Amino acid sequence: MLVLAGLTAMSVAACGSGGSGGSGGSGGGGGGGDAITMGFSQVGAESGWRTANTKSVQDSAKSAGVTLKFSDAQQKQENQIKAIRSYIQQKVDVIAFSPVVESGWDTVLKEAQNAKIPVILTDRAVDSKDTSLYKTFLGSDFIEEGKKAGQWLVEEYKDAKDPVNIVELQGTTGSAPANDRKAGFGEVIAADPKFKIIATQTGDFTRAKGKEVMEAFLKANPDIDVLYAHNDDMGLGAIEAIEGAGKVPGQDIKIITVDAVKDGMQALSDGKINFIVECSPLLGPQLMDLAKQVVKGEQVPPRVVTEETTFTQEQAKQVLSTRQY
Ligand code: AHR
Repeated sequence: MLVLAGLTAMSVAACGSGGSGGSGGSGGGGGGGDAITMGFSQVGAESGWRTANTKSVQDSAKSAGVTLKFSDAQQKQENQIKAIRSYIQQKVDVIAFSPVVESGWDTVLKEAQNAKIPVILTDRAVDSKDTSLYKTFLGSDFIEEGKKAGQWLVEEYKDAKDPVNIVELQGTTGSAPANDRKAGFGEVIAADPKFKIIATQTGDFTRAKGKEVMEAFLKANPDIDVLYAHNDDMGLGAIEAIEGAGKVPGQDIKIITVDAVKDGMQALSDGKINFIVECSPLLGPQLMDLAKQVVKGEQVPPRVVTEETTFTQEQAKQVLSTRQY
């Protein structure tokens, strides 16, 4: 379920050309036909979330009549930079991308700006000081997501007197969701010294790495109370490691994750995860609307935040059958 603040009234401007528009490359100015070409550089295919996000972008482009040039960067910044440069050469009307990490984008963004091609950030942010390098940033508030995870934990252990030993599986090093989910969570649990992060390491947002790192955590730390995983996939990999070590996920070790993809929600309903903070991947329709606006030279909000919720085990049972992704 996704509603975007400030965008709900935005029309999905139907585009006349039936989806096969040429790559006009006029870079705005309005007037003429609505057919636009978007160059989209995706992070990769690291998680269930990412698969759903890619589908949302591709399906929405089709229904909005936007010609999409899509590339998968396989979680590598250099691949994204190459893709963006190629979109500039091809004179697309608009570039959208989900930056794998936050830093190191100024040069290529400047090249797009010099070529008068508007850029939209989607899902993840960049740390560029010069915000004129992109038109808008559409996506979740990852700090808020981390805070929600921390708030659940604080409430769950409010009566506990003993230390609460937490292990953390971080997302891709240097990425906005890893930085912010860590920061938001850390800020909330810092209020009570009984919460101790005894081990923290990246699991690169993948199930395989989540399992591998959790196995190492379990070997080195006999007394883990809580796992905080920055996404469902790493949490699901960790569940395999926990079961492999003869422990019961959700009971011996409480688990908090982020995303709420179907597999995560299934594990939550089954009692193997204790709490999930939602991060919606269904950004495609809003992205297409924003793209059409910026190509026309219209003003758009500089930040469009995705509205999200959280799920307990009971809530997951209620919504599981209708979950879209
Ligand atoms: O940027 C969003 C994050 O990237 C999702 O939470 C994670 O699953 C994905 O890989």
